[in-house]
Amino acid sequence: MSQISKSFNGIKVLNSVDFELRRGEVHALMGGNGAGKSTLMKILTGVYQGDEGQIFIDGSEVSIQQPNDAKENGVSMIFQEFSLVPTLTVAQNIFLTREPRNNLGFIDEKECIRQTEQLLNELNVNIDRNIPVEQLGVGYWQMTEIAKALSQNTKILIMDEPTSSLTKNETEVLFELIDKLKAKGISIIYISHRMDEIFRICDRITILRDGKHVMTSPCSELTMETVIQHIVGGNLEHAFEWKDRNYQRNQEPVLQVRNLTSGRRVNGVSFDLYRGEILGIAGLMGSGRSEMVRAIFGIDPIDSGEILMNSQKLSIKKPEDAIKAGIALVPEDRRMQGLILDHSVKDNILLPILSNIKKGMFIDDAKGNQIASEFVTRLNIKTDNIFKTSRLLSGGNQQKIVLAKWLANSPEILILDEPTIGVDIGAKTEIIEIIRSLADSGKAIIVISSELPELLALSDRVIVLNEGRVTKEMDRKEIASEEVLQHAIQVV
Ligand SMILES: Nc1ncnc2c1ncn2[C@@H]1O[C@H](COP(=O)(O)OP(=O)(O)OP(=O)(O)O)[C@@H](O)[C@H]1O
Ligand SMILES: [Mg+2]
Repeated sequence: MSQISKSFNGIKVLNSVDFELRRGEVHALMGGNGAGKSTLMKILTGVYQGDEGQIFIDGSEVSIQQPNDAKENGVSMIFQEFSLVPTLTVAQNIFLTREPRNNLGFIDEKECIRQTEQLLNELNVNIDRNIPVEQLGVGYWQMTEIAKALSQNTKILIMDEPTSSLTKNETEVLFELIDKLKAKGISIIYISHRMDEIFRICDRITILRDGKHVMTSPCSELTMETVIQHIVGGNLEHAFEWKDRNYQRNQEPVLQVRNLTSGRRVNGVSFDLYRGEILGIAGLMGSGRSEMVRAIFGIDPIDSGEILMNSQKLSIKKPEDAIKAGIALVPEDRRMQGLILDHSVKDNILLPILSNIKKGMFIDDAKGNQIASEFVTRLNIKTDNIFKTSRLLSGGNQQKIVLAKWLANSPEILILDEPTIGVDIGAKTEIIEIIRSLADSGKAIIVISSELPELLALSDRVIVLNEGRVTKEMDRKEIASEEVLQHAIQVV
């Protein structure tokens, strides 16, 4: 891609960007939230058209005006939001609108299944091709998307944050699959904010910043520090460092969870949470962390056990009960659950606090604007103004809006499930700071995170979950290194 420029409503989001991809390489495309990664890829796949620039494939210039042109040139993209139809089977999804036909012109189901079988065998993937994809885990959706791409003779495969909804095992399977694709000569463009993944599977890295190409280099010639410097355009101060918050745990716990059991994943969890404390929840995928907080918040039914808040027993049957009691949960899949895409950035941020900023019958608009603007600045939410429709923001910036919404009006107990997923490295640091200051102001906070450096930077105390039970509790001061925690997570 050569000298690609693109503006939306007069604002330039890509500025003469060059991007080169070699055959059979995995090329990381990195940059802060709103840097222009998804937009550049949408131009390559014909979702958008560039205002300027040229695209060459195998040395010849191609014209990509619409998604079909991209397909014909062997370019496929797996979007941050999947494009599968949940009620159709794997096989039906793969051949949707291109179904093999028999002599009479009817869809040839058998042929469809046969070809699916062949594709999945080639990829060495074991999925039931005959049940609706909605009954399969997200990891399998991804594989279905990849199989679908391959069935279209893909030469260039684009993955936009493919692991953000995958478990650790599913991620491993994806990485193996990527190796196989590479070996077949397929070139992959890989977008992710997770440094460790990039260094593990990518051959080269290209970094964009504010719509401009900053650098392209082989991974082997880069360190994580240089990559971060290029992404943020300077040095990142005090990233991920634990600072003793100097808080005293001496009163009654604000939250007491006793023998909580819910579904198959939560089997008798007990713990206390104190005012002003940040409690980190560690554990492997499937250890029951998200399920536990879903039960506390009233999303999943509680089978037995009890929850006490300020020593009073709570009866939580639905999220409204939890919210009324003063508990909030920021879920892991925020874009789906936490955002009204057609509302403005401001309206989304202010939603939970509207009643607080009312002046009689009217909403105090100046105050609302001020609060929304403050969070846009602090979290570096990239938007032209606070009145922009949330749908038009980049993926990571949408994530930040949902966080801002709860951070702006933190209730007594705030539960955050993977608070920095999809968020760029600069904003991660800021989010950690905000969570800390909320705790300083007396809120009680629970944080689930799979990123150990983040968990260690935040937590005053860590509990480890395994098969739905608390297997270890550690004061932050007892955890000398990431390895200690890693060990505690893996030892049963
Ligand atoms: N259809 C649109 N209309 C207006 N602005 C848009 C549109 N699509 C993207 N933008 C803007 O273009 C900029 C780049 O967005 P893009 O989605 O490419 O970022 P990104 O690098 O993929 O970020 P993230 O890491 O958050 O996914 C953002 O400021 C975004 O708000
Ligand atoms: Mg994006």
